[in-house]
Amino acid sequence: MTTQSENNAQYQTDKNLSIRQRLHQQYSTNSQGLMPWLREQITIRPGDKILELGCGNGSLWEGYLTQISSTVQLTLSDYSQGMVDQVTRQFDQDSRVNCLKIDAQSIPFEDGTFDIVIANHTLHTVPNIALAIREIRRVLKPHGTFYTSANGNHGMEYYLHTAIQSIQPSNTSFSDQLSFNLQNGVPQLETAFRQVARRDYPDSLRITKTADLIAWIESTRTPDDGVDDALLKQLATYFEALRQRDGAIMIPKQVGLLIANN
Ligand SMILES: C[S@@+](CC[C@H](N)C(=O)[O-])C[C@H]1O[C@@H](n2cnc3c(N)ncnc32)[C@H](O)[C@@H]1O
Repeated sequence: MTTQSENNAQYQTDKNLSIRQRLHQQYSTNSQGLMPWLREQITIRPGDKILELGCGNGSLWEGYLTQISSTVQLTLSDYSQGMVDQVTRQFDQDSRVNCLKIDAQSIPFEDGTFDIVIANHTLHTVPNIALAIREIRRVLKPHGTFYTSANGNHGMEYYLHTAIQSIQPSNTSFSDQLSFNLQNGVPQLETAFRQVARRDYPDSLRITKTADLIAWIESTRTPDDGVDDALLKQLATYFEALRQRDGAIMIPKQVGLLIANN
């Protein structure tokens, strides 16, 4: 289970998140991009009140606010003050946007406040996911919709786990299924919502610079996750050999969106 102190270290600023976002921007084989695809899936109506939890550096809204109604009210929130400061600098001059520090496990709004709640790639980082889901359901209006993007359990993490095991068979890094993913997220959401739909975004990575993949792995490190400097060096050699043999490092992705409502 993710601890909040691990999160605080990982997400103090968007330094680590940006490294990972850049890898996907540079090397994804689906040229649409995850954020533009997510925007297409989320139905926003004039007057909607929207809450985003774990907004990170606000990439969902970058270059997009001009395309949505002048009457929406958007609360961008994250548990990291560094992330909140960043989205405040970027979006707060827009009178529709309010930026707040919020823990998804204890949302400081009244019951039935929002038409839409969004939590993209965030629930797996929350220590008590069941509590967060109850809170999200509580602050949604009766016919409101919750959108949450997540990875699946047959994507990049599983591929990296297999690669690490071929170097160090006893190493369990990346082996745990995420605590919230496209598969196990459905029954978790069904505890609070009557309908849960899953939409997948087909994609993979074709990485032509080994150092960029190693930087991605390094950006996920926590003090005791089993990926030390020596292993990083071995991984660099392993992936560079693949790159030279195949012309690129080909990595599967499994990513999509769960849509929950009543
Ligand atoms: C993987 S990032 C995703 C950021 C962004 N939604 C995106 O898709 O690029 C997870 C985010 O969740 C935030 N977070 C972690 N624990 C949280 C909590 N308990 N409540 C709200 N946000 C949290 C982190 O600070 C981080 O910004």
